[in-house]
Amino acid sequence: MSVEDEVILVVDFGSQYTHLIARRIRELKVYSQIVFPDVSVSDIEKVSPKGIILSGGPRSVYENNAPHLNSEAFDYIIKEGIPILGICYGHQLIALKLGGKVQDEKKKEYGTATVDILESEGIFDGLKKTETVWMSHGDQVYEIPQNFVVTSKSDTSPIAAFRNASKKIYGLQWHPEVVHTKNGKKILSNFVYNVCKCSGTWDLSDFIDENVKKINSIVKDGRAIIALSGGIDSTVAAAITEKAIGNRLYAVFVDHGLLRKGEAEIVSQAFAGHDINFKKIDAKKRFFKKLEGITDPEKKRMIIGEEFIRIFEEESKKIEAEFLVQGTIYPDIIESGRSQHAETIKSHHNVGGLPETISFKEIIEPLRELYKDEVREVGRKLGLPKKIIGQYPFPGPGLAVRITGPVTEENIRICRDASAIVDEELEKASVENIWQAFAITLEDKVVGVVGDQRKFGRIVGLRIVESQDAMTANFKKLSWDVLENISTRITNEIPEVVSVAYFISHKPPQTIEPC
Ligand code: XMP
Repeated sequence: MSVEDEVILVVDFGSQYTHLIARRIRELKVYSQIVFPDVSVSDIEKVSPKGIILSGGPRSVYENNAPHLNSEAFDYIIKEGIPILGICYGHQLIALKLGGKVQDEKKKEYGTATVDILESEGIFDGLKKTETVWMSHGDQVYEIPQNFVVTSKSDTSPIAAFRNASKKIYGLQWHPEVVHTKNGKKILSNFVYNVCKCSGTWDLSDFIDENVKKINSIVKDGRAIIALSGGIDSTVAAAITEKAIGNRLYAVFVDHGLLRKGEAEIVSQAFAGHDINFKKIDAKKRFFKKLEGITDPEKKRMIIGEEFIRIFEEESKKIEAEFLVQGTIYPDIIESGRSQHAETIKSHHNVGGLPETISFKEIIEPLRELYKDEVREVGRKLGLPKKIIGQYPFPGPGLAVRITGPVTEENIRICRDASAIVDEELEKASVENIWQAFAITLEDKVVGVVGDQRKFGRIVGLRIVESQDAMTANFKKLSWDVLENISTRITNEIPEVVSVAYFISHKPPQTIEPC
């Protein structure tokens, strides 16, 4: 764990919103860190947190194997008087731990609800008598612990919030981190500033200087290598490292032939005139040969990941760098920490995966504490091109996972050209709040009619979604005009395509990438 001046710890009980809580706290200029329920007393002592937030979670507190905060840690937090805010499952857990009662409600409650605020102070300072909030729970507290008072109720939840102000313990049945809770940010701000007495020290301006110093002290006069993917994370990690060690950073950019239109040029230009030792490797033939005839998405991912590592190993041997730089960001670290409980939906191959047969003195991950939007801000501060900073997330295996059939020249070309049209039309129409937007080459064919002739042609699927963190996503409700422009251009400009389909499923159940 890193040690910042002011830290709020967020204990993750498996809620889909845990990252959202942590991000909201950072938006309030306070550094937040996610930990798991087995967090130890010594881990907490190291960080000396200003406050602890217990997240929601999908389980019932009475269920077998439901996650509970390590008892020693809980006792320590109470003994030290560290402020606690429990959200949903966290609220129920506080009640249970301190002698209250929780029960499984027959009627689950999901969606917006109106609650009465019984006292406008503490974490509810400045709130109105009634508030709109986001509820998502099965269980609820029906008896509060001794010395607690109920601070909010609704028709369905007689104990929608409680507190023990002298012990600085607060519980909320609803989710303040979700935008549908109208004054959710105000509640979190009250907790962080009024209860935890934070002063707001988390500022990205110092981040670059501190990391440049840190990298310098690690690498000294040695050499480091990084695999550039064209994505924002590895580019920003390279730019920070270059600021520290200049031409002793070797950036290997592998063009696997599965990149977006113009991407290779954008990456090359981003580092043109810089000190960095930039090397672009044209490996298209090599990748296409390995991928010949493969349609299974997981196999594609494995082959691409493996091939990347082989090429990167070959280059590392030539360069003999002692240090490996990776663009790992905070959600990557947390997701891998959780992997023992999570199911593999897709094996995410991130470019720059660790070569097994080369050992490095140390791995440097300058962005390991940052969320994507923070990485973007650092990129802006470093003066990186807008095209790189503003781009959508792009998977390591590239366009290969946006083709439902085999990786062929034609399939890739259709996907690449159609995606470029999607980008252009969305930009022309100034569509905002898009997480990712791209085209998919589908394997099925349909009958079309072109110039009075029957044509059994290709279908392109469009995936355009809104999301906060890619854990969940909603399809973008685009105007018919924009969809029509995209469809018309794709069928006019890509001769093989006769039909364009729009995926109107959210995640879940559909994932963002099709394969
Ligand atoms: P899914 O498809 O799981 O994607 O909803 C969630 C986010 O992860 C990205 N993604 C990947 N990123 N390697 C990556 O580096 C991968 O193999 C991969 N698969 C999905 C996806 O673009 C979305 O942002």
